[in-house]
Amino acid sequence: MENEIAFNHFVSVENLTNDQILTLIHNAEGFKNQTRKVSLTEPVYAANLFFENSTRTHTSFDMAERKLGIQVIPFDPSHSSVNKGETLYDTLLTLEALGVQLSVIRHSTNNYYESLINLNDDQHLHMAIMNGGDGSGQHPSQSMLDLMTIYEEFGHFDGLKIAIVGDITSSRVARSNMQALHHLGAELYFAGPDYWYDPQFDKYGKHVDLDDVIDQINVAMLLRVQHERHAGDENEDQFSATSYHEKYGLTNKRYQQMKKKAIIMHPGPINRDVEFSSNLVEAEKSRFFRQMQNGVFMRMAMIEAVLRGNHLGGLQ
Ligand code: CP
Repeated sequence: MENEIAFNHFVSVENLTNDQILTLIHNAEGFKNQTRKVSLTEPVYAANLFFENSTRTHTSFDMAERKLGIQVIPFDPSHSSVNKGETLYDTLLTLEALGVQLSVIRHSTNNYYESLINLNDDQHLHMAIMNGGDGSGQHPSQSMLDLMTIYEEFGHFDGLKIAIVGDITSSRVARSNMQALHHLGAELYFAGPDYWYDPQFDKYGKHVDLDDVIDQINVAMLLRVQHERHAGDENEDQFSATSYHEKYGLTNKRYQQMKKKAIIMHPGPINRDVEFSSNLVEAEKSRFFRQMQNGVFMRMAMIEAVLRGNHLGGLQ
């Protein structure tokens, strides 16, 4: 396997090959166990532009950039000139003029990155773009850290039974993971309320009742109920946390039914006692905090690939 991998941008997992995914996992593991070192021979300046709320992804990218020796230039959307009508494209041209070479962006618009990387002849932005999450589209760094966490646990993907549970239609994490895990040979199940399921997911796995598979799965991947994306929806008006938890959540009873070596994952943030019984967040099968730890190392591997793709920091 070739360990040096290069991308111009990192906006989606959809077109990654299995070899590329395994190389990124290998490199992230190298950063984690300190066998992989990257020395920048020229300064690199990065900005993290988070137009939607974030704790994990924003801080994790910041940490990964600093560990790689990148200079992180603060950017606060709430005090930026975006609020005076400046477009995202013009904001990036501005940051580029100031010396920023790489931007990590989270934005509520699906595919926002297309207009930043597929330029017209009269556009000259050269910024490397990494997607920190776009609407209900993609969340490639979360997906890659999830894949790393699963691979660490099982050493393979082929034939693993993985249930993705909950608010699937709103979830960019689910969309990225179903694409990647399906390519990698995992057997996917989807569970949760019917109104948060879209038949277009049928091509990746089976729509099931969680109770029919709970004792067979290797991984329960729980998703946050994204109330902020359901405003005005009649199901949102009738939402009951207790009822959701009983029907679709990881209750103590379901936890006891899981296989001995099965694991539970959640991208965070958790709604305690909704997706997850509160006492299980730190339980033996929970990999919630391992996912976050792995996120720093996986983002280092992803950033390294983008630095190489753009010949930044003296990397080829
Ligand atoms: N998983 C995730 O994206 O969390 P944040 O919204 O806190 O970044």
